Amino acid sequence: MRALTVEPGKAGSAAIRELPDPAPAAGELLVEGVALGVCGTDREIAAGGYGWAPPGRDHLVLGHESLGRVREAPAGSEFTPGDLVVGVVRRPDPVPCGACAHGAFDMCRNGRYTERGIKHLDGYGSRLWTVETGYAVKLDARLDAAGVLMEPTTVVAKAWEQVEKVGARSWFEPRRALITGAGPIGLLAAMLGVRRGLEVHVLDKVTSGPKKDAAEALGARYHSSSVTDVAAKAKPDVIIEATGVSSVVFEAMAGTAAYGVVCLTGVSPAGRRITVDAGALNREIVLENDAVVGSVNANLSHYAAAADALLAADPAWLARLITRRVPLARFADALESHPDDIKVVLDLQ
Ligand code: BGC
Repeated sequence: MRALTVEPGKAGSAAIRELPDPAPAAGELLVEGVALGVCGTDREIAAGGYGWAPPGRDHLVLGHESLGRVREAPAGSEFTPGDLVVGVVRRPDPVPCGACAHGAFDMCRNGRYTERGIKHLDGYGSRLWTVETGYAVKLDARLDAAGVLMEPTTVVAKAWEQVEKVGARSWFEPRRALITGAGPIGLLAAMLGVRRGLEVHVLDKVTSGPKKDAAEALGARYHSSSVTDVAAKAKPDVIIEATGVSSVVFEAMAGTAAYGVVCLTGVSPAGRRITVDAGALNREIVLENDAVVGSVNANLSHYAAAADALLAADPAWLARLITRRVPLARFADALESHPDDIKVVLDLQ
């Protein structure tokens, strides 16, 4: 079986390896990999800046944005050969901490969780993979190739849930949302904002092209000026930050309307310093009862919410998010990011 592997911590180590076909254990599915979404995390792992190999090994099979078709399913399971499935990324820590013990492994407290294709577990970047039935999610066949957008949609389903939970601490009827970043996370967050009936603003540094077109096709307003400028005019009740760029993060924190909620979803590299007026920022957050919440990963409830959201979305709009499809053999092209990329997908067939 051909798989896309990396040696975590070693830049430029991504390679196709011939590995033994996986054999499903009891309670597992054997899945034919159809496609694999590539995201910033994968690029960071390939650049040697993130990621952990399974214990006792130097290489990790890359990939956490999965889409596959069931080849073999355990008798009596809810799956049958031919089903379209995605695999869940995270597994609870073995202790388990209180959150993991309650199914909230996305909120793990001790950091000993594992993640397929990222942390100590092989990912889904191979022609065949196995997954426990309890961590596989069946997709409606109508989703077809758009099913590869499932994992990033789970991330934004969780982010919106967090915004609503934080907002619910007092009266909260948000009307306007600003999404910073028009990559897949930003655009899918915008889609969920529009679905909630909000006036949605999307901001990205590119001034034209597929990102702008996709945002406008949703009915969102697209901007390329600074967060501070856009926020001053739009007065967003909610900001979902999807760039991880330090200056954008701080402008977002200062940019909400009163009682605003900022949800940070971008994982940024450490070591980049900027100057901020911490006193002014603190005063603004305190005097407005603003909240800033970080959000990562997703649990099974977010997978269910994401499956519903994708099915309710316009298939033509979802299709335009996939801006490049690259065969597995040309993985290096997929790991390079181009300014007009929204989602780059590796074709595993
Ligand atoms: C993935 C998450 C994961 C996070 C941190 C993201 O790219 O989408 O599932 O938890 O990286 O490893």
